Amino acid sequence: MSRLEIRKAGDPVLRQIAEPVKKIDKKTKNLLNDMALTMYAANGVGLAAPQVGKLTRVIVIDIGEGLLEMINPEIIAKEGSCTHIEGCLSVPDFDGEVERAEKVKVKFLDRTGKSVILPAEGLLAIAAQHEIDHLDGILFVDKAKALVKKEEQDKQ
Ligand code: NI
Repeated sequence: MSRLEIRKAGDPVLRQIAEPVKKIDKKTKNLLNDMALTMYAANGVGLAAPQVGKLTRVIVIDIGEGLLEMINPEIIAKEGSCTHIEGCLSVPDFDGEVERAEKVKVKFLDRTGKSVILPAEGLLAIAAQHEIDHLDGILFVDKAKALVKKEEQDKQ
């Protein structure tokens, strides 16, 4: 496994639409492994493949309840709305207040190719929406009502 470079806002790869995974092969599994390693090393709660320069519809999330790997994830249902302060490993200098659906259902394939429908709320719902946006070239700063520059001490 290897740690991948996290692309930062301004890198055009973050603004492109990622391609669906057609076949889950060794390359897909290696990417999932490398993305999880990269996310944990950066203390993130989620990472999408475009953030490591791969235009493929793969995300990893861990909000502290275990690793979730999602291939070709889609939001198939949304309910309610909530506002939360979000950050992003690709936008290291800012946090922002973003309104999102409060509850979602996410449909995806796991690494064995099994189709999963996962109901999510709270931080998991927010993380799923944030990471799936990355697959469509959308960053949280596009949706944020206000951006807050992080304090110097928070960056260390
Ligand atoms: Ni992000």
